[in-house]
Amino acid sequence: DEAGGIAQALGLAERFTNGQPMCVILGDNIFEDPIDNIIELFMRSDFAHIVLKKVEDAARFGVAVIDRSNGNGIRVTEIIEKPVVPPSDLAVTGIYCYPADVFAIIRKLKPSGRGELEITDVNNAYIKAGRLQCSMFEGYWSDAGTFESLARANVLVRESAPRYATAALTAE
Ligand code: G1P
Repeated sequence: DEAGGIAQALGLAERFTNGQPMCVILGDNIFEDPIDNIIELFMRSDFAHIVLKKVEDAARFGVAVIDRSNGNGIRVTEIIEKPVVPPSDLAVTGIYCYPADVFAIIRKLKPSGRGELEITDVNNAYIKAGRLQCSMFEGYWSDAGTFESLARANVLVRESAPRYATAALTAE
């Protein structure tokens, strides 16, 4: 009944998840690629798992602070929600995979400046506990939460639809 934040909404789903690990997907996010590989990686550990995408307008999103010092890929050290000066161009997309202990974390959250329970605070709690993994998303991704991004999401889907229609025909 209220805009309480993504973490508050997820908290309402505790009974639904029935003690099982879960994948949360934001309803206004459009993802081009299948996510079965992400789910497989997630299910092999008891870590939370987020998905990052390189974007040009990172300030609109949760943004990953990256440590590249160990040479072996990237390590996310923090996520900053809607930073004025983005620490990287890697936005946190709206696919979040969590173990069942996410609800204990949500219960301890305090509302942010915008009065919401932030999913970014949940992810930062997993980072602090050393239990956050991340994947990079290869295909296109868009949210649809502004008129501009809704228009862009429509164009992306319209432009890619013929590719998928052809693939479906070939598969038959
Ligand atoms: C939310 C999250 C943000 C994430 C975005 C993805 O933003 O708070 O971290 O990057 O979804 O769409 P919001 O839609 O609340 O602005």
